[in-house]
Parts: sequence; C-alpha cells; structure tokens
Amino acid sequence: MRIIKVDNYNVLSKRAADIIAAQVLLKPSCVLGLATGATPEGTYQELVRRNQEEGLSFSEVKTVNLDEYKGLSRDSNQSYYYYMNQHLFSHVDISKENTHLPDGLAENAQVECEAYEQLMNRLGGIDLQLLGIGRNGHIGFNEPDESFTNTTHTVALTQSTIDANAKYFESEDKMPHFAFTMGIGSIMRARKILLLANGDTKAQILKEALTGPVTPKVPASILQLHPDVTIVADIQALALFDK
Ligand code: F6R
Repeated sequence: MRIIKVDNYNVLSKRAADIIAAQVLLKPSCVLGLATGATPEGTYQELVRRNQEEGLSFSEVKTVNLDEYKGLSRDSNQSYYYYMNQHLFSHVDISKENTHLPDGLAENAQVECEAYEQLMNRLGGIDLQLLGIGRNGHIGFNEPDESFTNTTHTVALTQSTIDANAKYFESEDKMPHFAFTMGIGSIMRARKILLLANGDTKAQILKEALTGPVTPKVPASILQLHPDVTIVADIQALALFDK
C-alpha cells in the first residue's frame, strides 16, 4: 500500500488525476471503476481540463460506477448517473455507451445486480478502481456488516450514510434508503485501487481502516489485503497517523 500525503484538496485532485491519466495512457481501452460523492469532484474537474487542454483522450475508455440509489431515475439530479454526466462524461470524449451504472429504476433488483456483475466480467474486469471512504468505513455502499459481501447487491443504507448524504436532497425522507452497490469482492477484484480521502471527518476512519484489524465492521479495512492500493489523502485525513 502506498500512501501519498498532500497539503490540500487541490493537490489531492491533481495527484489522483495523474494516476488515472497514467492508467489511460498505459491502456487506452482500460476499464475505470468510478466513484461519486464530494471527494472525487476535483479529480473529475482536473481530468476534464486535461482532456480539453492537454489531449488526454477517453475515447476508448470504459467505465463502471460503484453504485446507484435505488428508486432514482437517471434524470433525477441526485442520481449518480446524473452526477457522472455532470462532472465528467458530458465534458470529455468518452462514448456514452461505454459508461455504465446500475439502473436505479430496474424492475427486478436481483436481475439488475447479476447483469451488472456479468457486465464487469464481459469487460474483462476493472483496471483501476477509484474509491472514496464513508465516515463509517464504507466503500461503494458496502456498509459495516457481519461478513464481506462479494458481488453487486442491494443494500439498506445506514443512518451514518443517510446523515452524511441527506444534505444533497430537499429533505431526509426524499433520500432513497436503499442502493445498488458493487460488492466488496467486485471492488477487490480490480487490478489497482486508488482511494481518496480529505478532511478531518475522515481521519478516525482512515486510521482504523488502514491500521486496524481487517473486519467487515470496517469494510475499507479489507484494502490492507489488496496487492496494489494507492491512498491519496490530505494532512487532515492523515492527522491521526503520526499519533
Ligand atoms: C460513492 C461511494 C461512497 C463515497 C463515500 C464518501 O460512489 O461509493 O462510498 O465514496 O460515501 O463520500 P464523500 O466523498 O462525499 O465523502
């Protein structure tokens, strides 16, 4: 595991974009696993800039996102489909048919989850998976649990996640309480993992996840066993590492 400590969010976004750009240069037809949330917004902004100003091309890239809220349509402005188009896909030369997220309105959740897992297999697996970390240690929407999940599944969001994300919705009851998420197994099968964390709200959980026991109670702790993980985190998120 490599830990890259940076001074601030701006540098974090640039370092993360460097790693994603390197993956795209290494294999222009790579499969990128992507995340949403506040953390990667700056990274996407930097990738858009490199696409528009420096010719970094996504024309052959394929993407699979970690998760999607269950019950939100793709044109809902809180869906992760909407987020990805808003922050990345609409601004770069990626083919929309090469971008994939679970369908929040899928009629049959189990069929949707199995199809998503098969899609990842058909694409040949994920070359680089981008992750944020929830305050409770979730990755994707894999919440603290009794065992590590394997494949894409439906999940009930915990109160910690609802508290963290309700601000994006008009009110808490407008926020879906269920989501589709890649499993911990789906994430761990990625060839490389890039986890980003910034701010003091992530300090405690980052320390637990990276130095504590490997346990499904802290889902991100499983990353200690992955052979190729890079963490890019700012001073605030790494504050407890020196103590
Ligand atoms: C998003 C995702 C989540 C977030 C996590 C952190 O697709 O899967 O695991 O990465 O909730 O969210 P932020 O970045 O908003 O702190």
